Amino acid sequence: MFGARCLLLALRRCSSAPCPKHKQAARLRVCEALEAQEVAGDIKVQGWVRSVRSQKQVLFLHINDGSSLESLQVVADPTLEHRDLTFGSAVEVQGKLVKSLHRMQNVELKAENIRVVGPCDTLMFPFKPRERQPLEYSRQFPHLRCRTNTLSSLLRVRSEATAAIHSFFKDNGYVHVHTPIITSNDCEGAGELFHVRTSNKVQEPGENSHFFNVPAFLTVSGQLHLEVMAGAFTQVFTFGPTFRAENSQSRRHLAEFYMVEAEMSFTESLQDIIQVMEDLFKTVTSIVLSKCPQDVELFHKYISPAQKGRLEQMLKNKFVTIPYTEAVEILKRAPQTFTFQPKWGRDLQTEHEKYLVKHCGEVPVFVVNYPYDLKPFYMRDNEDGPQHTVAAVDLLVPGTGELCGGSLREERLHFLQSRLERYLDLRQFGSAPHGGFGMGFERYLQCILGVDNIKDVIPFPRFPHSCLL
Ligand code: 4AD
Ligand code: MG
Repeated sequence: MFGARCLLLALRRCSSAPCPKHKQAARLRVCEALEAQEVAGDIKVQGWVRSVRSQKQVLFLHINDGSSLESLQVVADPTLEHRDLTFGSAVEVQGKLVKSLHRMQNVELKAENIRVVGPCDTLMFPFKPRERQPLEYSRQFPHLRCRTNTLSSLLRVRSEATAAIHSFFKDNGYVHVHTPIITSNDCEGAGELFHVRTSNKVQEPGENSHFFNVPAFLTVSGQLHLEVMAGAFTQVFTFGPTFRAENSQSRRHLAEFYMVEAEMSFTESLQDIIQVMEDLFKTVTSIVLSKCPQDVELFHKYISPAQKGRLEQMLKNKFVTIPYTEAVEILKRAPQTFTFQPKWGRDLQTEHEKYLVKHCGEVPVFVVNYPYDLKPFYMRDNEDGPQHTVAAVDLLVPGTGELCGGSLREERLHFLQSRLERYLDLRQFGSAPHGGFGMGFERYLQCILGVDNIKDVIPFPRFPHSCLL
């Protein structure tokens, strides 16, 4: 049905062409052509050649334009063959959609004309037809890897997940806020900041003066700006790039990554924040699975065969919650030895996160109430004892480890005195209890697709000693 509608729209687009004598063929995207249920008139498809097979009687091509994992089969008379018609070349094929005899495909394009728009030197091109290269190999070619099946599937999943995140928050009454990329605060207080300066000395009048009069940085989190907005809109979210100058080459860290952050006013319980995190994860993942099943399947089939079952478990089961103090006890009782000894007051390491998730049955685990001294200034003091904790929560997921970090915020002025001046102002003018969290978008993609290295789930990864393109 969808196919027929697209086809009709495309044909209508072309029927309004100015000169009926030179009626143009309707342009269809590959996914539209593949969905077409009925055979249409003259159409044209533009894309890149994924395979060329020349037989005596017939020439077969496969064309992909990034709109679907599947390519469109083109059948042509061998006289249409051209020496530039090679794997990787950009082409425009005009002809008729006809019923295909191929059992995997509904239709194929019977070509009447093939135009090579941009030839491709196949010897120099780093990818070869029907060869599945390791992800590390493709990573060397950030400008070309989007033409491989794996990266194009990833980018479609990324795009659908982005849209699903926006619709999740919209459907639940959140206002989207563009928080700034350039900021004068270090929200997390970890000192992992990229300094922003002008490249032109002339713009900085004095030796010690700054363009913004104060030192400026690329944001590590939009949280403090979101808190401002939560003071007027109650429920807000942002979804943008964040930057951390962490000198880490790990498979979970990037210098530039995307973070989904939400902030809710009139929230007095960590449980409310936990519920939003779990709902966000489950809703967005279900949408992604239903919108791009083939793209997700590629990962679950070829990249991480165990991930499909794991993900089903994550979606089916209620996530587990354990206090940090109990988590440390579980780790201490563990039969295995850790490189880092678990001890109350110390951060949880990746090996600890992995163990805890396994201990809880390979389902996501919320660890709550962390030691006061481990967490940033904005987290709400639990005023407990003898061990002093804050109302913080980290979500740990199978395979990826920490996916989200959040907390109730310290809304009481006297607890924050001598901290940020404007942050304090927020506590004087209609301060309400509030809280929120941040979810690393690349870690989310790693988690649902089972991708081991974070550099393979972002189009242009930035990490220490690498900023290609
Ligand atoms: O735990 P983090 O540091 O929390 C915050 O920044 C809070 N201010 C968020 C908030 O409450 N609004 O970061 C949140 C998440 C982490 O759980 C992790 O998934 C991801 O961001 N993350 C990274 N992802 C990739 N590369 C890095 N270097 C990351 N650092 C954090
Ligand atoms: Mg964290």
